[in-house]
Amino acid sequence: MQNINDVRNKLIAQVADSDNPREILKTTELKQLYSVIVTLPVEERGVYGKSINELKQALELAISSREAALEDATVQPIDITAPWDVNTDYPSLLPIEHGTQHPLTLELETIIDIFTRMGFDAIESRQIDDDYHMFGALNFPENHPARDSYDTFRTEEGFISPAHTSTMQNRILVNGRAKLEAGGQIAAVSYGRVFRNEDIDATHEHTFYQCEGVFVSETANLGQMLGTLRSFFEVYYSQKLKIKTQPAYFPFVEPGLEFAIERPVALGGKPGEWLEMLGCGMIHPNVLAAAGIDSTKYRGFAWGGGIERLAMLKYGIEDIRHFESGKLQFLRKFL
Ligand code: DAH
Repeated sequence: MQNINDVRNKLIAQVADSDNPREILKTTELKQLYSVIVTLPVEERGVYGKSINELKQALELAISSREAALEDATVQPIDITAPWDVNTDYPSLLPIEHGTQHPLTLELETIIDIFTRMGFDAIESRQIDDDYHMFGALNFPENHPARDSYDTFRTEEGFISPAHTSTMQNRILVNGRAKLEAGGQIAAVSYGRVFRNEDIDATHEHTFYQCEGVFVSETANLGQMLGTLRSFFEVYYSQKLKIKTQPAYFPFVEPGLEFAIERPVALGGKPGEWLEMLGCGMIHPNVLAAAGIDSTKYRGFAWGGGIERLAMLKYGIEDIRHFESGKLQFLRKFL
């Protein structure tokens, strides 16, 4: 029995030091203890066997706890403040990819940058609005057919997903009135997401982006507007451009115009190929009046148009639906 106790103490000490403790169950000392059983008188075997079993149980317990300790030591401590890829053990299953800005965000930043350098403030438009800002303040008479080209989504409560960024005109004018009366001018662009009930194809989306400009002073005129727009497009496309306008009807401007540029040869154009880029004009006196601005003293011009169309020409993108598709293949071209 003394021998059993010695073996037990020795093996348990070994377990505590071992990197592979289960191997210790195979030691010859243990086997020898078993082999002794058959040499004992039958009446002693029971007590002896029981002692060996106790040894074995104690050893198993020591082995399990040593194994648990070894396993704990190999588990990486988790830094809960770190990004997921620092803590994961599966880099090959979850490749580390950092997001990038969407091409439209990049384009909007470029556009806003050009206008702010020209002295315009930049204000994001709303994605939910009301009938007054969508139509009433913009000189759309009730039930006028001009409303039809701005068919969009509405909530049951009567809120509107704006079909154009012109919804911001009245707010820009109201906010700028004090500046105007203090002898200054209003110069702001508004940009953001707009929505239309459209039949979708390569050039029409139900969700797209627009940028709107508003300028008001005592002397604002069409020449200044054309100069502003030409400067913008020449910076945006990094080249001299031919421009032209043709009359168009928008209830909120008089006269109203469509502004076109000749498609640059470098961007796949042939001479004489005109691209309509946006709508513009001199702000209608009723729109100024709706914002409390005296239209006999002040005049203004405004313009508005889609962002996707500008970017499509710049980068040769053939289908507007790519922008909202979320396709990585498309997005990665703009890294
Ligand atoms: N809001 C018009 C549209 O989406 C574009 C537009 C035309 C804006 C003339 C203007 C403007 O500010 O003066 O079709």
